[in-house]
Amino acid sequence: MRYVFLTGTNRGLGQAVANLLKDDKIISITRSPIENNTVIHQSFLTDFNDIDTLENSISDIFSAIEPSNGDEVYLLNVAGTVDPVQSLGNLNGSEMLDNYKTNVVAPTLLIKGFINRFKDFKGTKRILTVTSGAAVNGIEGWGAYCSSKAAINMVHEVLNKENIHQENNIKSAIFYPGVIDTGMQETIRSSDINEFPNLDRFKEYKSNNALAKAEDVAAALIKVVTSDDFGNQESYNVKDYL
Ligand SMILES: NC(=O)c1ccc[n+]([C@@H]2O[C@H](COP(=O)([O-])OP(=O)(O)OC[C@H]3O[C@@H](n4cnc5c(N)ncnc54)[C@H](OP(=O)(O)O)[C@@H]3O)[C@@H](O)[C@H]2O)c1
Repeated sequence: MRYVFLTGTNRGLGQAVANLLKDDKIISITRSPIENNTVIHQSFLTDFNDIDTLENSISDIFSAIEPSNGDEVYLLNVAGTVDPVQSLGNLNGSEMLDNYKTNVVAPTLLIKGFINRFKDFKGTKRILTVTSGAAVNGIEGWGAYCSSKAAINMVHEVLNKENIHQENNIKSAIFYPGVIDTGMQETIRSSDINEFPNLDRFKEYKSNNALAKAEDVAAALIKVVTSDDFGNQESYNVKDYL
């Protein structure tokens, strides 16, 4: 049996991933309830902006399953936010902090919970976190998003080193998903051009059908994380799998 701890299950890429993992047991961690037909083994509702509540829920979340040695356990950090889209001169500190909580602190706490809960589990253990090209290319108006995605990349770099040193038998990597036709792109297209000068380019992605379907990106993500040699690379890019 494969158990998959998944964030962002209620919409976008996370929902598409869940819909393709029908034979797995999904332990979903979302802010909003799941209002679609996705089959979930267990669902936890928590807003990543409320880090104390998330931290107090971690033990319950990872105690939701009792895997046997032949089982596999995955953590897929998919949830993320691009907000606030504001130039540095207008950046709101509290909104920036919320971005960091969702994009950096929450996935890091989930990684922490996963490591500790499954320390003695001898089966397959894998962690994949969805990042963004914005982590390595600064984009005007995305000061919070670019820097938070860069930060979670670095958390993974540390994780990869600790995996080896601590002999914890976890394989981990980050995944670059490209531009996907999800709610996040709608949010981007509704940005103020004064804060986000690239607005027209992103509107053209939509009008030119240049956005990937969430189902296709989800299929690539699953191909990556289930492959025999997953973890041999620190990062994977969807363009190599579409
Ligand atoms: N779409 C793109 O073009 C693109 C490009 C590069 C990278 N990515 C990355 O891909 C991943 C998936 O994004 P997407 O395109 O599927 O975006 P999406 O459609 O906007 O979905 C975002 C998901 O993250 C969840 N989330 C946001 N804030 C949260 C919070 N405070 N607490 C808990 N959950 C929260 C949302 O939950 P709610 O429904 O409760 O808001 C939703 O499930 C993200 O990590 C994103 O950074 C996307």
